Amino acid sequence: MSKKIVVITGSPRRGGNSFAMTDAFIEAAEAKGHKVTRFDAAMMNIGGCHACETCYKTGKACSFDDDFNMIAPVILEADVVVFTMPVYWYSIPSQIKGVIDRIYSLVVGGKDIAGKECVLIACCEEEDKTVLDGVRIPIERTAALNKWKMAGEVLIPGVLNIGDINRTDGCAQAAALAEKI
Ligand SMILES: Cc1cc2nc3c(=O)[nH]c(=O)nc-3n(C[C@H](O)[C@H](O)[C@H](O)COP(=O)(O)O)c2cc1C
Repeated sequence: MSKKIVVITGSPRRGGNSFAMTDAFIEAAEAKGHKVTRFDAAMMNIGGCHACETCYKTGKACSFDDDFNMIAPVILEADVVVFTMPVYWYSIPSQIKGVIDRIYSLVVGGKDIAGKECVLIACCEEEDKTVLDGVRIPIERTAALNKWKMAGEVLIPGVLNIGDINRTDGCAQAAALAEKI
């Protein structure tokens, strides 16, 4: 069955490690006939949540009308939500955190977002795989709260510079994950 997949990236580094895995995932997903829409959050103008609780009151998801309002309707329509990012300071990079925080607008706005699938693709420099907990745990808990099922994760430690991902099986794992969506 063809699914609508929204991919949201968090790295500011074009051609970097998480982008390489993202590209592999998207190529495999499209080859399977899925419809993929990609947003590179770091190249967009997206701030944090103002907690004003006026979500959808102005006709758009967020009253603070930046590029998040382009992403919100695509998340609403999506069957699968894919987050890809590096670890920054043991946590989620600010470039994508604004998108995640503002999913709050869909919840406060009373939108039915339950039943989606969620995917996480992430990487970090350190060899210690628990470093990836800083992105894995918040995404898994966000998915659980939203009643999204984790469809899979690709978590690759030990990659620092652009191209390091090619010394790992990260891109192959990302493609294999897309195959089973
Ligand atoms: C601001 C910043 C913070 C980082 N913090 C961490 C960290 O806490 N732990 C870690 O293992 N790697 C850290 N890294 C390294 C990146 O996670 C690593 O280089 C990753 O491969 C980058 O992915 P990208 O090429 O997709 O941007 C950091 C990199 C930057 C630029």
